[in-house]
Amino acid sequence: MQESYNNALNNPIFKIISEAAEELSVDCYVIGGFVRDYFLGRTIPKDIDVVAIGSGIQLAEKVASKLDGKPQVSVFKNFGTAMIKSEGIELEFVGARKESYQRDSRKPIVEDGTLEDDQRRRDFTINALALSLNKANYGKLLDPFNGIADLESKIIKTPLEPGITYSDDPLRMMRAIRFATQLDFQIALPSLQAITEHKDRLKIVSNERILDELNKIMLCKKPSLGFSLLHKTGLLELILPELTALQGIEEIEGQKHKDNFWHTLEVVDNISKATDDLWLRWAALLHDIGKAPTKRFHKKIGWTFHGHEFVGSKMVYKLFKRLRMPLNEKMKFVQKMVLMSSRPIVLSEDFVTDSAVRRLIFDAGDNVEDLMTLCEADITTKNPKKQKKYHQNFKLVRQKIEEVEARDHVRNFQPPISGEEIMATFALKPSREIGIIKEAIKEAILEGEIPNEYKAAQEFMYLKGEELGLHINK
Ligand code: CTP
Repeated sequence: MQESYNNALNNPIFKIISEAAEELSVDCYVIGGFVRDYFLGRTIPKDIDVVAIGSGIQLAEKVASKLDGKPQVSVFKNFGTAMIKSEGIELEFVGARKESYQRDSRKPIVEDGTLEDDQRRRDFTINALALSLNKANYGKLLDPFNGIADLESKIIKTPLEPGITYSDDPLRMMRAIRFATQLDFQIALPSLQAITEHKDRLKIVSNERILDELNKIMLCKKPSLGFSLLHKTGLLELILPELTALQGIEEIEGQKHKDNFWHTLEVVDNISKATDDLWLRWAALLHDIGKAPTKRFHKKIGWTFHGHEFVGSKMVYKLFKRLRMPLNEKMKFVQKMVLMSSRPIVLSEDFVTDSAVRRLIFDAGDNVEDLMTLCEADITTKNPKKQKKYHQNFKLVRQKIEEVEARDHVRNFQPPISGEEIMATFALKPSREIGIIKEAIKEAILEGEIPNEYKAAQEFMYLKGEELGLHINK
């Protein structure tokens, strides 16, 4: 006899669905992520999928009529689904189908499958687990494809022959890798082979859906697990060729450079220990992309990547555009991080002058801590002595940043003297002299020649005006 899992169905909403189904004489089941996460002991998701052996839309309407406040039912006729939002929960109803379960399909769906037909057409055995909501066997687990066993052995497997499951919806190739990364599961070998074989089918998937999975991988505890699987199957080359171009070590005349692809993945894992910020993680992923196009070998100095930060920051725009990522301040943030990614390194190597620190704070502005986090994550040396030394150096840079900022307030630098005041002081019409004086004041402050204060800046303005042959307007 199969076990009953009534305790998974504690939420009173399930009783209401059960009653509604009884009244309509249809069978229905909770299925998918909710059941999977219940058995995994993960936080139970707020979206719950219900499959009806009959019309999912009718069931949704019946359920809504029984709920407090009679929530609205959003019907998606093309997909044969209906959605209700109630008390922070999103219920999605679908009729069991013989055809593949595809959210984005424009094909008409067939609503005449059995529960098992429906389970067979889902992506993975662990996502095909169903709990009965029917009175006769409420809470009974229906697991014809051994999803529980796969949960236990931590394996991602398709209910059908993998080639069929992935052809039905090629996004599932990304989903397999995403689940493997999120749950720290292995992808079954035939599945992994099928992904490699069918990788080109990803082309028919919209960039939005791909990005969604990519971001979920990026937000995992150890994103490198996902990126190395994407790489192994050949998907990464299709999605982020800028990144795979970093792979490899070249050697000329006994001189080698590091493999910047695997280095990058280490940096992403490192930064993921320090921050959950998706965009800072993206910055880590892209911080070295300029290295492939700028790589040169010089007989005397060996390998160089001159200007890779600048080239890389320019590449960020194209990449964001192609992947339909936001072209807003998030992108600018990533660009800025890539552009500035080597700045603190120089500071940590040399004797740190106050003016260099002031310039760093001025250029990085509010992102100076994020920049330091990125640079610390960038330390991937396997030499424990060096590792310790680099971390200590960055600690010193951080300290210095705090000291200098507390004293000089250059983080959100506002010039103490405005353009209007310069104009009034020297009776000037709008002209280039104003710019010259403003810039000179800023430089003097950043160089530490004068403090970031009004009086000192005013004095400096008089001097500078004099140098330019201007007269003070008395
Ligand atoms: N599903 C599928 N193929 C897809 C997408 C979804 O078979 N390409 C099925 C799976 O049974 C899945 C269910 O639809 O469990 C719900 O999908 P979704 O809400 O996207 O995923 P969850 O499994 O709930 O997990 P998550 O919320 O983490 O995405």
